[in-house]
Amino acid sequence: MNLISSPGKPLQGLAELPGDKSLSHRAALLAALAEGESRIDHFLASGVTQVMLDALTALGVSWQLEHSQLVVQGHGLRGLSTPAASLNCGNSATTMRFLAGALATAGISAVLDGSAGLRRRPMDRIVNPLQQMGVSIQATDGCAPLVLQPSRFPLRVIDYTLPVASAQVKTCLLLAALAAGGPCVLHEPGFSRDHTERMLRSMGVLVTSTRQGTNDHTQYETRLTPPRPLVLSPFSLSLPGDFSSAAFLIVGALITPGSAITIQEVGLNPGRTGLLDALLSMGADICITGQCTRQGEPVGNLVVRHSQLYSTRVNGEQVVRMIDEFPIFAVAAAFAEGATEVSDALELRNKESDRISALCQELRTLGVQADESPDGFIIQGGAPLQGGTTSPHGDHRLAMSLAVAGCAAQAPVAIQQAEIISESYPEFVPTLQGLGAHFEEQR
Ligand code: S3P
Repeated sequence: MNLISSPGKPLQGLAELPGDKSLSHRAALLAALAEGESRIDHFLASGVTQVMLDALTALGVSWQLEHSQLVVQGHGLRGLSTPAASLNCGNSATTMRFLAGALATAGISAVLDGSAGLRRRPMDRIVNPLQQMGVSIQATDGCAPLVLQPSRFPLRVIDYTLPVASAQVKTCLLLAALAAGGPCVLHEPGFSRDHTERMLRSMGVLVTSTRQGTNDHTQYETRLTPPRPLVLSPFSLSLPGDFSSAAFLIVGALITPGSAITIQEVGLNPGRTGLLDALLSMGADICITGQCTRQGEPVGNLVVRHSQLYSTRVNGEQVVRMIDEFPIFAVAAAFAEGATEVSDALELRNKESDRISALCQELRTLGVQADESPDGFIIQGGAPLQGGTTSPHGDHRLAMSLAVAGCAAQAPVAIQQAEIISESYPEFVPTLQGLGAHFEEQR
């Protein structure tokens, strides 16, 4: 399917978001590992969460999803059944990395596999520390498929420094640490989203998080003490809207003249809101209203108005706090006066696409001066964006970013194979159309 995004009216009105993707993955899996029935409202039904649910079915867990309410019957941390075939994680590295940790704790045999794109993404970052914990897991040249065999229980205690800050790796290791013989400690060079820690605490697990070191050399320590007895309590919760989905609406409103929108009930976990800081430093008119903490996670409404943006720099720790937002941030940078520079962001090359190279290439198609560096990019903003035909490189976030660019370009922007958007935000097109965007689907 081609999506044609044409410049047109300002974006105006009230927008509701789908449930948070990161929280949906965690809630489904942790509910499966709890003992008893859990209820999750405002669950994200999308391509990547469906592969997690299908994997849970293959592991003997029953669940029902109706009108975005997911009900899961959990069998306990050691209650997963050996799957009859390999578990297909599709395009979802989150599913693969989380399941590897959960399977290590469950102590069963399984093979984790996925799409050609997922098979290219680095898995040695979980395999090495899991092996240190005594988990029998093998990768294929550092990538999927991953083969797990039952390991000796309890797993070995670990004190491990992640080379790259990553909530996916941290979550995998925290799930395995539940089955360790004592407290495990993880150190990260940046602050990655702490959804897993917050959810585990609500299930009765002792997890502490501390910031350590000086401003020049900060480390984040997470310490988990395995529960005794080895039981997680079931839970009921309602998930906030996905900040990473809100990001497309935010930038759409900022770059489209005359826009003023309110986005309701957005999750504002501090590990996710680096984009807000970057946009505010560029002169964006964004206000947070009704901020509160709901079921352990910060939530608020965002009021966003069209703004003249100016260039900025993003580097260091801020990169981790906006790791999923660089494609849409690059679009904002293309509309900002001056040269915006991103560095320390090598990790972007390991996402659904090589986001440094893919997004620079596609922005150049639209007439933007976008130059790659080894660990980032420089975008010379402020010139009008041309129309053109673009490819999302199999990357849902790149597809949505290009569609948003079209809202304020000089001529229509076509996005090929735009069905990839449903991996994380199936309601993207109708939501933007509801705000006034001119989108047309060509099949
Ligand atoms: C995620 C963490 C991030 C992010 C991904 C979801 C999560 O990955 O890119 O979309 O839910 O924990 P890394 O932590 O590996 O950077």
